[in-house]
Amino acid sequence: MADYVVEFGKDGRPVESDGRLDAAAFHRNQQAIRDVLARLLHGATGDVLEAGSGTGQHVVAFARQHPEIIWWPSDIHPQHLSSIAAWREHAGLANIRAPLRIDLSDPAWCAEMTNGEGPGPLTAVFCANVVHIAPWAIAEGLFAGAARYLAPHGQLMLYGPFKQDGEHTAPSNAAFDASLRAANPDWGVRDLGELEQLAAQHGLRLSETIAMPANNLILCFVRSSES
Ligand SMILES: C[S@@+](CC[C@H](N)C(=O)[O-])C[C@H]1O[C@@H](n2cnc3c(N)ncnc32)[C@H](O)[C@@H]1O
Repeated sequence: MADYVVEFGKDGRPVESDGRLDAAAFHRNQQAIRDVLARLLHGATGDVLEAGSGTGQHVVAFARQHPEIIWWPSDIHPQHLSSIAAWREHAGLANIRAPLRIDLSDPAWCAEMTNGEGPGPLTAVFCANVVHIAPWAIAEGLFAGAARYLAPHGQLMLYGPFKQDGEHTAPSNAAFDASLRAANPDWGVRDLGELEQLAAQHGLRLSETIAMPANNLILCFVRSSES
């Protein structure tokens, strides 16, 4: 396992005996994220993949809110994959598939994407709080895979803190960025313009930037009409 993967989800309630992890951030941000997804995925069906699902709490909330969508959680960390599986079991929802082990540094993501055991062309990819807590190669793999597997009108939705025009949007984001870079020089809050450039390399364009609580954003990318 890559050494930049950090275990996540022990900052909230104690770990459940069945492996369910609880992330404090989920309780702060899930309602606002779900409100935006309710609009972006209004009327949507088909398969939606969550990249870097962490504890698996978000995907359960999304699946409950969008029963007409099949949800595919994923992560790289074994303990997170166990937590996602445990939350899926606990929720008992028919529209959540077993977690996929996806290493986003691989643009192909995982074998299931093409061997018939995974989702079909994706209605959307959702990814929260991953690209700043990982090397840039993870953003590259995320966009490469999304471009490869999204359906023609599919959306790639990113949630997290982002710089705009190379500047932090709040002192708290600047402090967070500094703490990330101190932990690992390859991590850091990403710039919206750099993500747009990366998206363009993969035939995607930014369609919406949505302000979220606590100086976060949701970025929505779609296939550019030229590609
Ligand atoms: C801060 S957590 C965010 C979890 C969840 N999306 C949320 O917002 O609650 C970052 C997640 O990215 C995952 N991750 C890190 N490197 C990864 C990689 N190379 N491929 C896939 N997932 C990765 C971690 O295991 C972790 O679950």
